[in-house]
Amino acid sequence: MAEIIELKNAGFSAQNRKILQNVSISFEASKATAIVGPSGGGKSTLLKLAAGLLVPDQGGEVLYNGKNIAHMNRAETLEFRREAAFVFQDSALWANQNLFQILELPLRIHFPEMTKKEREKRIKSAVAEAGYKKDLGVRPSQLSMGEQKLIAFARAMLCSPTLLFLDEWTESLDETARDHLVNLVKIRRREKASILFVSHDLRTIKDVADDVIIIVDGTATFATSIDLIVDNAVF
Ligand SMILES: Nc1ncnc2c1ncn2[C@@H]1O[C@H](COP(=O)(O)OP(=O)(O)OP(=O)(O)O)[C@@H](O)[C@H]1O
Ligand SMILES: [Mg+2]
Repeated sequence: MAEIIELKNAGFSAQNRKILQNVSISFEASKATAIVGPSGGGKSTLLKLAAGLLVPDQGGEVLYNGKNIAHMNRAETLEFRREAAFVFQDSALWANQNLFQILELPLRIHFPEMTKKEREKRIKSAVAEAGYKKDLGVRPSQLSMGEQKLIAFARAMLCSPTLLFLDEWTESLDETARDHLVNLVKIRRREKASILFVSHDLRTIKDVADDVIIIVDGTATFATSIDLIVDNAVF
């Protein structure tokens, strides 16, 4: 069993409140793991810790392929950021940029040798794949929440990641768009990508997850079975 991400006794606090305590969890490579639990339980915080976007401040460490993410040098961090993509719960699109500029940024960083034409081609193909059909010249505030999710998803896929962190990635989407994005993730899963996702949506969890982790009161444990979670509606 190859572990791609491992949290070892990781804890995190904000404003003197412990949000996650002593979390030790391993995520297997090439599997899809769902993180479930009540609102405010710490799911997004756990996902950001696992992705190295937050650093444990209550002891512990987070490893990517055995390496402490917080101790990576610049080159290793850049490589990790290209391999790992994150869809934020609130989409997190730059408010002062248009969609094209937002989507151009990861390509400029990770593929500096790409020409403008190549970037355009890649961006158009990523947004078409995500199912966004409108103008790329507008700013995020001109989009619905669901449309913002599609752009956030397209941005995450731009650099062909092998590790996906998806936080409520089907929230705000209509059924057709949801099914479409679920299918895209299932394809990535079949192509051996590793997927960690947070969702409140039972169908998404059942469709995608190999494993489920439950977070309650800042502690996280593996669920014994997906059906048990679904039957007891732990979220
Ligand atoms: N930067 C922060 N400052 C203060 N409190 C925070 C911060 N980040 C998270 N929290 C608190 O930590 C708790 C867990 O937040 P988190 O966003 O991880 O929950 P969640 O399980 O993702 O919830 P939801 O299902 O609503 O998305 C919440 O009570 C939240 O208020
Ligand atoms: Mg959340």
